[in-house]
Amino acid sequence: MKYHTFSNGDQMPLLGLGTWKSTDQIAYDTVKEALRIGYKHFDCAARYENEKPIGKALKDRIANGSINRKDLWITSKLWNNAHQPERVEPALKQTLNDLRLDYLDLYLIHWPVAFKPEVNFPSTGSDLVSLDDVSIQDTWQALEVCVRQGLCKHLGVSNFSIKKMKGIQAHCSITPEVNQIEAHPLLQQQDLLDFCQQEGILVTAYSPLGSSDRPVRLIKAQDPVLLEQSEVIEIAHNLNLTPAQLLLAWAVNRKTAVIPKSSNPGRLKENLAAADIELSSETMDSIKRLDRHFRYVDGSIWTLPGSPYTIQNLWDE
Ligand code: A2P
Repeated sequence: MKYHTFSNGDQMPLLGLGTWKSTDQIAYDTVKEALRIGYKHFDCAARYENEKPIGKALKDRIANGSINRKDLWITSKLWNNAHQPERVEPALKQTLNDLRLDYLDLYLIHWPVAFKPEVNFPSTGSDLVSLDDVSIQDTWQALEVCVRQGLCKHLGVSNFSIKKMKGIQAHCSITPEVNQIEAHPLLQQQDLLDFCQQEGILVTAYSPLGSSDRPVRLIKAQDPVLLEQSEVIEIAHNLNLTPAQLLLAWAVNRKTAVIPKSSNPGRLKENLAAADIELSSETMDSIKRLDRHFRYVDGSIWTLPGSPYTIQNLWDE
C-alpha cells in the first residue's frame, strides 16, 4: 500500500473504502470484511446515514484485538445543515458517537453548500442558505476549534474549486490538507489537481469507478458507463487487469487517494490489490486522452429554483 504523508508525519493509506450507498447490515458486514482483508482507510459521512453500523463493525474488530485504532484512518464529513458555527462541534461529536471513536483522522466540509439547520435534504430552493450568510470561513474557524480539542486531527474540504480553496487559505490558521473531489478518466480535473499538489493538499478521488449504483436522482439519460468504456476495457485487458483495477491504479499513480465503494467480498479484494499496481507513462498518457470533463455528481441537486446556488457558482467554471 502507498501512503500520503502529512506535514506532521501522519500517514494515510492511498486506497480506502468508500461507504456512500452502503446501508445498515451491508455497511456492517462490508466494513468487517474489509478490515479482515487489510483495508485501513474508511471514508464516511454523516449524510450516508450508516455511521452507526460502521461504528459497530470498527468496535467489534478493535475489541477482538484484530486491529488497533491507531492503525486506522477514518474520515468523515460535516453535512450541509451544520455549517452554522455553533452546529459544527455537535455534528462532529454525533459522528464520533455513531462511529464509536474518540477522534477522527480527517474531517471534511462535505459541500460548499449550506442548508437551513432543520433541513436534512432540500426540497425547495428556500431550504438552502447562501455562503454570504453562512460563510465557509466561519465554519472553518469552528472546525479549527475541534482540532484544538483533539476531536479530529486533520481538516479538509470536498467538492471545492481552486477559488474556494484559496478563500479558506487566505483566512485560516489550520490549513486545508485534503480536497475530496469526483475524479476518474472522464473527469480528470488536472488544473485543480495541479493547484492542490503545488499547495501540498492531497486530492482524494470519489466515484472512481463511475458510481453506477448512484441514486436515481443523479442519473441522467445518456450518462456514460465508465467501467464499460471500450478504451478502459481494452487497456485493462492488455495489462491483465480488470477495468476497475486499471481505474484505481490510475488514481494512485497520479498521486491521489481513492475510495472505491464495494459491498462484494471478491471486489473488495480486487480493488485493494490495485493500489500496488504501477502503470507505465504510456498507459497514463493513453488514459489522459479520455478526459471529457463529465461529472456523474454534477451538483444540480443544489440548484433548485430559488436556490442561491447555480452550477456556475458551485464549481466556479
Ligand atoms: P458492488 O458494491 O456490488 O461491488 P464508485 O466507487 O465509483 O462509487 O462505484 C461503486 C460501484 O462500482 C458499485 O456499484 C460497486 O458495486 C461497483 N464496483 C466496485 N468494485 C468493482 C469492481 N472491482 N468491478 C466492478 N464493479 C465494481
